[in-house]
Amino acid sequence: MIILKNDREIAAMRVAGRVAARVLDDVAKKVAPGLTTRDLDEYAAAQIKAYGARSAFLGYRKYPCHICISVNEEVVHGLAGGRRLAFGDIVSLDVGVVCDGFIGDTARTVAVGGSDMRVQKLMDVTERALNDGMAQAVPGNRVVDISRAIQTRVEGQGFSVVREFVGHGVGRSVHEEPQIPNYVDGKLSPRLRPGMTLAIEPMVNAGVAAVKILSDGWTVVTQDGKPSAHFEHTILVTDAAPEILTCLDQTPSGLKDG
Ligand code: MF3
Ligand code: CO
Ligand code: CO
Repeated sequence: MIILKNDREIAAMRVAGRVAARVLDDVAKKVAPGLTTRDLDEYAAAQIKAYGARSAFLGYRKYPCHICISVNEEVVHGLAGGRRLAFGDIVSLDVGVVCDGFIGDTARTVAVGGSDMRVQKLMDVTERALNDGMAQAVPGNRVVDISRAIQTRVEGQGFSVVREFVGHGVGRSVHEEPQIPNYVDGKLSPRLRPGMTLAIEPMVNAGVAAVKILSDGWTVVTQDGKPSAHFEHTILVTDAAPEILTCLDQTPSGLKDG
């Protein structure tokens, strides 16, 4: 069942989305060679707390970290630890926060210091695919229109779409219906309606689409070891263009700089 949000719930989703966006931006700005991924997770935890929120991921299915940090060939759900970021790495940061019972979910891949042109293109195409997907999130369309737009952009640029993980509805739970694949899966696809809140999140690989899960039980990596990028926004479907709830420049005054 897809849970449509009423005005009060949408107001709460806006707050959660803005906090998630702010935390993601704070952590992204902190990324630098020499830091460990644990340093980043601790900083994220401090920022989440400073904004009066809590992590939506810590403890979710026993996930042990505050945010997901995935480096280079790690696709999603990377675990913070002693790995030190090096110049030329890319790092995918995925932030989920709970504010007043509602969740904002947003992700971005950033370069550590700098990256070569092919890797920069991977990140650019993934972000563009997210934008293409969001543009399709209008009433009258179906979820598959989002999926198709993402897949078309990614494959048109010579990259591949991860199949095993998908976007999703989001609200009081991290993962609500509907699933939002980043490729056309041929299944009957729900119509989009105002009041739906959706996390759209292409995961894009430079090489093959295939992934595997490491023995830590969480970290998803590309099978060929080539890099992967991930961008995600939580959006609200409206009568017109979607509202990006995890948009940074909608941050309310009253949230102090971190
Ligand atoms: N951030 C993921 C998503 O966008 C969910 C992470 S669940 C966790 O859907 F347990 F790994 F944190
Ligand atoms: Co996420
Ligand atoms: Co998500």
